[in-house]
Amino acid sequence: MKKIILVVSLTLIGFTSYSIAADADKGEKIFTANCTACHAKGMNHIAPGKSLSKEDLTANKRNSSAAIIALVTNGKSPMPAFGKLGAISASDIENVTAYVLKKADAGW
Ligand code: HEC
Repeated sequence: MKKIILVVSLTLIGFTSYSIAADADKGEKIFTANCTACHAKGMNHIAPGKSLSKEDLTANKRNSSAAIIALVTNGKSPMPAFGKLGAISASDIENVTAYVLKKADAGW
């Protein structure tokens, strides 16, 4: 009985982490295709104080998945509303967000 519970809970844990894990490697391709024009190497060529560095993301209260997903989905002119325009799917927005946060942690 204990063994069955263990197997069931391990399966659940495995499934849960798989289904919510955003893929930063996939996100890199999305970033290269859609974001580098303004954010090459994590910079912001249009609004310099709003780079993708950990410092700027923190100062601008965007150092979280939720905040970045909302921004990439809804945009903030001149940054396009990639999600609303249908340019990037919801799961790829999660992937590109994971990539941005990972690179910010690593200092780009
Ligand atoms: C046309 C230029 C442009 C493109 C393309 C663009 N952005 Fe931006 N991005 C901006 C501008 C301008 C801001 C500042 C918005 C504001 O006023 O808060 C910004 C802000 C951000 C921020 C918040 C930075 C901070 O420190 O507050 C993140 C995160 C971000 N962009 C991610 C992305 C991602 C991911 C993509 C690609 C899917 C992308 N951007 C594509 C121009 C762009």
